[in-house]
Amino acid sequence: MERVSYRLESTWQADGGPNGRFTFTLFNLSDAPLAGFKIVYTSLTRVIDQKACENAIFLRRNANFHEFAPPAGLSIAPGKSWTFTVSGLHRPAKHCTDGAKSAYVTLDNGEHIDVAVSDLLLENRVSEPPPVLLPEGKLDLPFALQPWPAEIDAMPGDGFPVVLYPAAGSSADELRAMSTVTSLVRRLFESAHAPFNLQSSPQGRALSFKADPSIAAEGYKLTFAADEITLAYADAAGRQYGLTSLAQLLEGARSEPNTFRFPDAGTISDKPRYGWRGCHLDVSRQFYPAADIKRLIDILAWLKLNIFHWHLTDDEAWRLEIKAYPELTTTGILRGPDEPLLPQLGNGAEPVGGFYSQVDVREIVAHALALSVEVVPEIDIPGHNAATLVALPELNDGQEAPDSYHSVQGYPNNALNPAIPLTYEFLEKVLDEMVELFPSAYIHIGGDEVANGSWLASPLAKKLMEQEGISGTFALQSYFLKHIKDMLNARGRKLAGWNEVAHGGGVAAKDTLLMAWENPEVGIDLARQGYEVVMTPGQAYYLDMVQAEAFQEPGASWAGTVPPEHTYGYEAEGDFPEELKDKMKGVQACIWSEHFLSRGYFNRLVFPRLPAIAEAAWTPKAQKDWHRFAAIVPLSPKL
Ligand code: ACM
Repeated sequence: MERVSYRLESTWQADGGPNGRFTFTLFNLSDAPLAGFKIVYTSLTRVIDQKACENAIFLRRNANFHEFAPPAGLSIAPGKSWTFTVSGLHRPAKHCTDGAKSAYVTLDNGEHIDVAVSDLLLENRVSEPPPVLLPEGKLDLPFALQPWPAEIDAMPGDGFPVVLYPAAGSSADELRAMSTVTSLVRRLFESAHAPFNLQSSPQGRALSFKADPSIAAEGYKLTFAADEITLAYADAAGRQYGLTSLAQLLEGARSEPNTFRFPDAGTISDKPRYGWRGCHLDVSRQFYPAADIKRLIDILAWLKLNIFHWHLTDDEAWRLEIKAYPELTTTGILRGPDEPLLPQLGNGAEPVGGFYSQVDVREIVAHALALSVEVVPEIDIPGHNAATLVALPELNDGQEAPDSYHSVQGYPNNALNPAIPLTYEFLEKVLDEMVELFPSAYIHIGGDEVANGSWLASPLAKKLMEQEGISGTFALQSYFLKHIKDMLNARGRKLAGWNEVAHGGGVAAKDTLLMAWENPEVGIDLARQGYEVVMTPGQAYYLDMVQAEAFQEPGASWAGTVPPEHTYGYEAEGDFPEELKDKMKGVQACIWSEHFLSRGYFNRLVFPRLPAIAEAAWTPKAQKDWHRFAAIVPLSPKL
């Protein structure tokens, strides 16, 4: 391991600026003096008043990238440090992850050297430690099922069969389904015993399958007896979920026999509460290799979630290979000190990239399909396109004033321009390739967070608006999205998007599914306008949010504090009027990855809240039980 040469430490205090002040101290841990350098750090707490810094010179900022120079002539001797303060922040710091996520120094010769960073500490105030978030839990029935089934009337047995094997006469599809779930268990729990064996075994128990069209879509019924189990199902997903429940029961009884048992009498009759049981992952801000995506899909299948919403593009990178535009996944992914896309969100001196080839995508889609998970891809348009516009500069209106608008994340001029014919040609080609890769009924086109004022300084946009009698950013957004909806419909696909798709006149509600993320009320409003809705409110289902108010609890906090108990208990359809309930298609977890710098961080924030959402998506309200959930969730596999 290489020795760290420099370390940046930081504190925040509430006074010293409208949103407080950071104090940074750079330690020189190398053997040589550090002089003639600049320092860069990335931080989600941005500096918006450039003059408001002391003992340093602000040089530039792009979104989370901040560059400073030390005072002229500064030299830091080995073992010594330099302290500077930065106020003029765009919001106060609330948690230990609100400071610098990464840093590097650039020497006079152009060399970049990583600087280690420490967690943000509070200055002159107590930095509260994180609380315990999960109670010990309590089981009324000793079964390791998660999500908990709709109806269970089963008796715990003594011991458990070594394996379950298919009764004579099982079909090839039924054998394949057992094999698929066995492989899933072996991937998720590498040291676990396989739950199923295709060959009968004297210490095993026979599993007899029964196709039963009277069972609900995705539902199943298990009937237990001491010598045989019956699994009745109507479709492949229901059969898989029945097998998954058996595998969970066995795995629980085997791994924690003092707590969990396997039934030897009674029934489980199960079906999902909602048809859309989703999990989203932002792979733009941080890249997740294909193997991680497959493992996440495995976890979704284990939790009986059925939609993987793959957020493939954003300001920070375009991750999907498009053969017609190779620049998207060369220039459009590479963030580094000397690249057109600057380091962001934890990047340092080394350039970082990562994208999914079309071969990767086909494998991931097939992997998901085999586990009854549909992959819904998202390309986020027209906003959130800083990387696209760097990769394909011809998509810019060259006459638009630079910095004429900024996104909420601080990117200047980052929206695809609806007045440039090439924008549509580009998107036609992208969609042509996407529909070949993704068989999903819906393609998600984003539509979120276009900054008010976007395009108003673009002469091409102004001309189009005059011609079409359009006024304002959101009416122009609506004009653009209507075209996109037509493009999707022409390809036999339906439009999914974030709730702002409805702004400025929106698009036709028919065959449009919108995700209510800003708050729960937005979902009801969309349903009233005729849209189908999936509930993903940040206040309950954004898994990047902090789980407690304590300063030392990591995470984002713009949507508030989201403890696992709140995520579990939240009733997404709670305030929907009866007549609008059929518009509410389900619920979804969202994993925005700005803060997600490591696997450990991912697991800490995603679990147990992802299983909590899975149970909210599947289990009837009357069967939800936080303490039972808490007793079972430690068994959940993690990434
Ligand atoms: C979003 O969180 N911008 C959908």
